Amino acid sequence: MEKQQPRLTWTFRPLRREDFDQLRAWLSDPVVARWWNHDTSDQGLERDFGPGIDGLEPGEDLLALHQDVPAGVVQRCRLADYPEYATALAAVLPLDPHAWTVDYLLGAAHRGQGLGSGMLRTAVDDLRHDHPEATELVVPVPAGNEVSWRLLESAGFTRVAEGDLDPDNPADPPLHYVYRLRLSPGRAAASVIRSTA
Ligand SMILES: CC(C)(COP(=O)(O)OP(=O)(O)OC[C@H]1O[C@@H](n2cnc3c(N)ncnc32)[C@H](O)[C@@H]1OP(=O)(O)O)[C@@H](O)C(=O)NCCC(=O)NCCS
Repeated sequence: MEKQQPRLTWTFRPLRREDFDQLRAWLSDPVVARWWNHDTSDQGLERDFGPGIDGLEPGEDLLALHQDVPAGVVQRCRLADYPEYATALAAVLPLDPHAWTVDYLLGAAHRGQGLGSGMLRTAVDDLRHDHPEATELVVPVPAGNEVSWRLLESAGFTRVAEGDLDPDNPADPPLHYVYRLRLSPGRAAASVIRSTA
């Protein structure tokens, strides 16, 4: 008899246009909209997520599945692929050239149950697997998003800096806490990205 494979707790796959209805529902949820500021019209979703789906953006949008059920979104990108953002962040914390960042949301059905930490830890393992050249993950979080920075701490990240960055939500003050997880030994100090400001 064929043995059944155990279901993996968390898996990820690239976002697809067929996920847009689910994505719209998550982004319209006030708890998510508070921190992920997106236009959820058809045109808005196409503008923000379409180029990534078509491989025209360096950043990756992943659907996170919990036991095969869509549960949320993980975005990841190499910071150097977004020079303006990397330069602003480097004013707060010098970055390795192969520094990556990650962002995440969970839909209401999966949120607030302690599941976020497992999702994030698995997302880190996936990044290590898919992009072994990544040396560190650096995540700036608005100081007011305590659930998010607690989640990072529970997934093994360390707060290494704090400073002002443009908030996604203009209603927020600029103060961000910056968290880091080393993935592999960094490069020589001479090759780090530093702000020229
Ligand atoms: C951030 C998010 C993915 C966390 O997932 P989650 O499943 O809700 O998180 P958890 O239940 O694992 O809780 C994470 C931590 O926050 C703590 N926490 C939960 N509610 C809290 C609250 N209201 N205030 C402070 N801490 C809180 C938990 O105790 C846990 O900390 P611990 O591990 O030290 O006990 C989810 O809340 C979310 O999608 N939020 C909206 C989008 C967002 O903010 N994204 C991040 C942008 S920077």
